[in-house]
Amino acid sequence: MNIVILAAGQGKRMHSNLPKVLHPIAGKPLLAHVIDTARQLAPEKLIIVRGHGGDAVQACVAADDIGWAEQAQQLGTGHALAQALPQLGDAGLTLVLYGDVPLTTADTLKRLLHAARDGLAILTVDLAVPTGYGRIVRDGAGLVTSIVEEKDASPAQKAIREVNTGIMAMPTARLADWLGSLKNDNAQGEYYLTDTVALAVAEGLPVRTAQPVGEWEVLGVNSKVQLAELERQHQRNVADALLVAGVRLADPARIDVRGSLSHGRDVAIDVGCVFEGQVELGDAVEIGPYCVLKNVKVGAGTRIAAFCHFEDAVIGPDGVLGPYARLRPGAELGPEVHIGNFVEVKKSRIAAQSKVNHLAYIGDAEIGQRVNVGAGTITCNYDGANKFKTIIEDDVFIGSDTQLVAPVTVGRGATLGAGTTLTKDAPPDALTVSRAKQVTLSGWQRPVKEKK
Ligand code: UD1
Ligand code: CA
Repeated sequence: MNIVILAAGQGKRMHSNLPKVLHPIAGKPLLAHVIDTARQLAPEKLIIVRGHGGDAVQACVAADDIGWAEQAQQLGTGHALAQALPQLGDAGLTLVLYGDVPLTTADTLKRLLHAARDGLAILTVDLAVPTGYGRIVRDGAGLVTSIVEEKDASPAQKAIREVNTGIMAMPTARLADWLGSLKNDNAQGEYYLTDTVALAVAEGLPVRTAQPVGEWEVLGVNSKVQLAELERQHQRNVADALLVAGVRLADPARIDVRGSLSHGRDVAIDVGCVFEGQVELGDAVEIGPYCVLKNVKVGAGTRIAAFCHFEDAVIGPDGVLGPYARLRPGAELGPEVHIGNFVEVKKSRIAAQSKVNHLAYIGDAEIGQRVNVGAGTITCNYDGANKFKTIIEDDVFIGSDTQLVAPVTVGRGATLGAGTTLTKDAPPDALTVSRAKQVTLSGWQRPVKEKK
């Protein structure tokens, strides 16, 4: 079986410089959705017909298993498929997909391929308003005889509500003849792929139809309105799958997954969360409202409060994070770590049961177990040119508003007094404090405003 994806069209109504098939759904180009579905069917050949913005399209989705055909001028869907023909050989079936119809499921396409086993098959759908689509014309016995495009249809044909989705499966060996004999003497002056249906009927080949499970499977994108509608449909599908798998969603209409989200049991996700890249949530993880997690692994039992932003981070089990916490790339938290509000952690390891609860920056640091980092603590990791490491050993207590000027090490069990600016290593088990001695000036007077 071969798959050919038609992707030469321009997409004028997108009002964009980006080729239509590169517009994203769930952060992934429309065409990439179609390619991923095609791959699930393991075709022998996978060919994309490129045209408008072809270089950009190919640069974006190129892969070893994809062949490319060029359609310099968009002379119709039949002409488009003809450009791929030299690469197809002549065995088996050829399945035609559209690069701007992203949500068709592999299951539906398998049913279509089965329907085409000894002939030709069309994926059709009954629409309340069929305007704009090719109509499926059947004879008295209910057998398909042809497809008539809207612009070529008689009033009686226009009343037909069963329409061509454009997705068809055909015997590869007949394509050269059929496509070679297409004429463009129709209302649009195009070579219609749909005219192959009447040719198959004339040869006595069975022409069957298959239907999608949902109408959204066959909807295409021609405008930003339709792009937004399919985005919501796709997100709803993802949310429904999460619910079915046991995830508790506060509102399935208010979650966005732009990548893969894997989860254990009893995971709960509040409204407005966005998951990007690969996110893994362990058992009983709870995520508060409006969090963004990108390429993050979260250990079992960890609770994440509202408004957190995590990227390229690993979080251990039973952590307590947020609200308003930020983990940047390379943050690695051990078990039972607490990261509180307005705390930023970058490229740092924080071991079990350590707490950084308020207003801190931890960058390029190694923090041991049971460390308490006071409010307002900053690792001064950057001298304007180079970055340096801060090492804080187990059981350290760091007083509030401390600056650790890296490279610097705080020994096991040490205490740093509040307000310390640490420029040299602090020895273990001792109090180190750098602030000036407190003085009181009695008889001191506040300045007063001068009279003019
Ligand atoms: C086509 C079908 C119509 C069906 C409709 C479903 C034909 C003649 N008509 O209509 O029966 O109801 O799809 O949406 O096939 N493309 C190319 N090169 C071309 C023309 C199109 O690559 O020369 C691609 C487009 O980028 C698009 C797809 O083929 O992805 C369909 O093209 P479009 O113009 O939307 O199809 P219609 O002619 O409207
Ligand atoms: Ca169309």
